[in-house]
Amino acid sequence: MIKATLLRQVSRASTTAIRPPTLTAATRLPVRAFSNGVARREKSNDDVDDEKDHHDEYSTSGKPGAFEHEGRFSRTDNTIRVEYPEEEHLPSSRPVQGRGSFHFKRTLSSFSLEDRVGVVTGGARGLGLVMSQALVVSGADVAIVDLNKEEGQKQAQQLMDNFRKENPGAEKVPKVTAHYADVSKPDSVNAALAEILKDHGKIDNLVTSAGFTENFDAISYPHDRMQKLWGVNVDGTYLFAIGVAKHLMERKAPGSIVFIGSMSGAIVNVPQPQAPYNAAKAAVRHLASSLAVEWAHAGIRVNCISPGYMLTALTKKILDDNPELANKWTSLIPQGKMGRPEDLMGAVTFLCSDASGYVTGADLRVDGGYTVT
Ligand SMILES: NC(=O)c1ccc[n+]([C@@H]2O[C@H](COP(=O)([O-])OP(=O)(O)OC[C@H]3O[C@@H](n4cnc5c(N)ncnc54)[C@H](O)[C@@H]3O)[C@@H](O)[C@H]2O)c1
Repeated sequence: MIKATLLRQVSRASTTAIRPPTLTAATRLPVRAFSNGVARREKSNDDVDDEKDHHDEYSTSGKPGAFEHEGRFSRTDNTIRVEYPEEEHLPSSRPVQGRGSFHFKRTLSSFSLEDRVGVVTGGARGLGLVMSQALVVSGADVAIVDLNKEEGQKQAQQLMDNFRKENPGAEKVPKVTAHYADVSKPDSVNAALAEILKDHGKIDNLVTSAGFTENFDAISYPHDRMQKLWGVNVDGTYLFAIGVAKHLMERKAPGSIVFIGSMSGAIVNVPQPQAPYNAAKAAVRHLASSLAVEWAHAGIRVNCISPGYMLTALTKKILDDNPELANKWTSLIPQGKMGRPEDLMGAVTFLCSDASGYVTGADLRVDGGYTVT
């Protein structure tokens, strides 16, 4: 009985589904030519008007390549090639002057990082250095980790000197140390973590800024360079994160980890080709979300900051080699300007501090609106 009813219902449903709708001439809708050329309809009288519609040449029914401007602002250009320079060709960065300011202005105490210890990979230069400074200005002790330990040591001293100048009579000046590590090598990462724990006794925050980008079209990208790029950007982020999370879990202490991804993890930059970098930064962003879930039970938060185009030694070199890029890049940014490293100071302090206590697994884009359009 039930079976017979079911069969009847199925049969009714299927005949309804395949029966063509009965349209009178008056109710028939005009069919627009949204064809991609693969399944063109037979011509009918109704098509005559459509074919005369000059708008169609801008659609997929038009001839590909009919206009010179097609895809002009949204394609990569294989002639742009930038190799990440050797260390000696990169200038040293200076700490930002006057950003700490005298601490007379009131703000939420939950933004303070006093009594915390932060580790910043890639902290000897560029964005990492300025984010180290943000932690120091907010009261944290900081361990700078970098391939270039000498530069890290010089900057560590400058950060402490700067703090003294901006906080005359401060009871405590944050302790800033420098440590060597190649973040892509597990032994090197573990050795650096052991040294940091010996010097500071604990770690509460991690910021992973060691990373780099290069421009090659995908087919020409030398495989060894690509592996190095992924090693530093992805493995380096992962290795430091697990090392710090293990320490926090052993200490049964909460902590906050901030990965430096890039807007390139969410969009494809143009015109410079950089597929492996884009994929690496997408991995970093999703690693933050995945680890945030995995470590939430232990009170460890993991978030990602995705900067847009920031003016650093590296982007200055790219612009020096390809001056026309400055106009292209800034024309794609709603705010119309590249960011400066100090534009990350508030974001990193927020995510490291208790002010962001309920924020985990998030991707904070600091890109002048680039990824919104
Ligand atoms: N500058 C930008 O416009 C921009 C935009 C988005 C994201 N980012 C990301 O921000 C991070 C910092 O970029 P930056 O512009 O400050 O670069 P940078 O080259 O100025 O600084 C990177 C630092 O990382 C160190 N480093 C490189 N490889 C390392 C390794 N294997 N082990 C340890 N340290 C290593 C370098 O010595 C250097 O001090 C990178 O991850 C980058 O991808 C930069």
